[in-house]
Amino acid sequence: MAEENKMDEYEQMNARIRERMDRIGRKIMVMSGKGGVGKTTVTVNLANELAEMGCRVGVLDTDLHGPNVAKMFGVEGASLDSKDGVSFLPVEVRPGLKVISLSFALEDPDAPVIWRGSMKMGAIRQFLADTEWGDLDYLIIDTPPGTGDEQLTVCQSIPELTGTIIVTTPQDVAILDARRSVNFSRRLGVAIIGVIENMSGLVCPHCHEEIPIFGKGGGRRMCADMHVPFLGEVPMEMDLRIAEDSGKDWMSEGASHPSREALMDIARAINEGTACSTSRDTSFLGTSSCKPSACASCTSNCPSRKKQQ
Ligand SMILES: Nc1ncnc2c1ncn2[C@@H]1O[C@H](COP(=O)(O)OP(=O)(O)OP(=O)(O)O)[C@@H](O)[C@H]1O
Ligand SMILES: [Mg+2]
Repeated sequence: MAEENKMDEYEQMNARIRERMDRIGRKIMVMSGKGGVGKTTVTVNLANELAEMGCRVGVLDTDLHGPNVAKMFGVEGASLDSKDGVSFLPVEVRPGLKVISLSFALEDPDAPVIWRGSMKMGAIRQFLADTEWGDLDYLIIDTPPGTGDEQLTVCQSIPELTGTIIVTTPQDVAILDARRSVNFSRRLGVAIIGVIENMSGLVCPHCHEEIPIFGKGGGRRMCADMHVPFLGEVPMEMDLRIAEDSGKDWMSEGASHPSREALMDIARAINEGTACSTSRDTSFLGTSSCKPSACASCTSNCPSRKKQQ
């Protein structure tokens, strides 16, 4: 009986998730194999840029142990609110941009969240089921590093997930982990929107020369090798880091910067659909530029080609 009730609750939650998700256009999960490569930075800046373009954007922070989204949006003082005591009201960063994060429920920002997998699963599903986003064009989901409970919960709770954006830095140890994120997406049958190579060279704030501090081109090479779309290279810039630390919108700030231009191009490509497969055709795993019909003449090791043989 208790089992049956649990099942009922699970199904009811699924139904609520369906209802919420049906009002959202594209749902994108940002992930990486390695920590600290810039997932939250990419999430926040793409969200700001898409909102700047006039899209209605929601951001869900599923990094329950290290929620940084609110700080980078400059709304870390906000608290979790509800109209009816059941659902959550997301915090409005600016018109057209809302965010929900566990950090809004934490009284002490220094308190660690010591949770097992099942609790994390429950919290993420509750945010998906009970956040009052209304109608959105985009829901961007920031995740912690790796391919664990959080990423699995998102993919399994949103079967129609538009796809994943995989963030990596160019050096070998990050690429090794990014390959796992690619294979995670494939294993779960989730489309890969593309890979972003972040911290792709450091722009010296004095001479503006680029120093390849983590190397360069590793993300692009991995994409060619694994047959996944490459979205672009975002260089390291000290001003970008300062903007994120102070919760300023980097995308709306004055003069031109290489990292901002790169992020703008990526946001545009996603919004124009050139980098965003909306279908979840899991039988075809090639790049965004190749067609299944061309598989026969292709010489790659792409899983799609192997399937067609
Ligand atoms: N292109 C960049 N130029 C300068 N600083 C950057 C850049 N990208 C990210 N950073 C900085 O690097 C740090 C780590 O970035 P961020 O928190 O976005 O990584 P993350 O992948 O989300 O980390 P975690 O795995 O802990 O969630 C932050 O201080 C951020 O401001
Ligand atoms: Mg993060």
